[in-house]
Amino acid sequence: MFIVGVGPGSPQYLTCVAIEAIEKSKYIIGYKYTLDTIESIIDRTRQEVYHVTMLNQESVYQDVYNKMKDGEYCTVPFTGDANFSESEVVDRLLEIFGDDTVEIIPGISSIQVASSKSKIPLDKSYVLSFHVSGDIEKKKKELINAIMDKKSVILLPRPWPNDPSKNFMQSDIVKFLKFNGINISTLKVWVFEYLTKSNKETVFRGNASELEGMSFNPLSIMIIDQNERQTYRDFDSPEKKQIPKIVLDSS
Ligand SMILES: C[S@@+](CC[C@H](N)C(=O)[O-])C[C@H]1O[C@@H](n2cnc3c(N)ncnc32)[C@H](O)[C@@H]1O
Repeated sequence: MFIVGVGPGSPQYLTCVAIEAIEKSKYIIGYKYTLDTIESIIDRTRQEVYHVTMLNQESVYQDVYNKMKDGEYCTVPFTGDANFSESEVVDRLLEIFGDDTVEIIPGISSIQVASSKSKIPLDKSYVLSFHVSGDIEKKKKELINAIMDKKSVILLPRPWPNDPSKNFMQSDIVKFLKFNGINISTLKVWVFEYLTKSNKETVFRGNASELEGMSFNPLSIMIIDQNERQTYRDFDSPEKKQIPKIVLDSS
């Protein structure tokens, strides 16, 4: 069983390892968006492709598990990287298929693409996913703390189409920040929609206060930009600065 990260949407972000795993799989089980991403490498004449939703995924995973014979492979593709904000499904697949028969193939995450576009390094950011089924109150506190700590934050908002009271989208986020005493009129933000989808991608850059009342597609990422660029020259040690110049003896 391969759990495969297939990148944020454009087949150009598929890695060669991901393509190899998909090609050698007899079974492919995925959500519509991820199946669309890999459509060009699926061969429906020899591969069994299952389009799943939150409602039917459990029975499909179990059916395929029971059907699989020795030497057969199955791929479950995930948007972006399978190791980021996918654990609710990945953990269930590990339960059904077992750790020893599952290989996770990493992919390029939407957060890496957002980090590249904003030029804000991941290691200097607080990364948060609100795209979870469980309670997000603790994560909301982490968001406030990270902002107070002057960190940049790269976050996945929470779309919840069937119950808008559970939404935590860009507009809800900035209202929440304002309510908690953050000055949103000076806080810099980015919002990216449809990353890597060349004809659909959008970028918003401005102050957080401008996001109040704005709506964005569920396929979007928000960045709170408090990045301060620092190069190795800012960290030159005194010893390094004192290294004497080598004087060449010209005699
Ligand atoms: C369940 S999470 C999956 C994240 C994914 N594993 C990753 O590494 O990018 C789904 C959320 O990821 C974000 N996302 C995934 N692909 C995106 C894209 N192409 N553009 C913008 N946001 C994206 C959106 O916030 C979306 O609601």
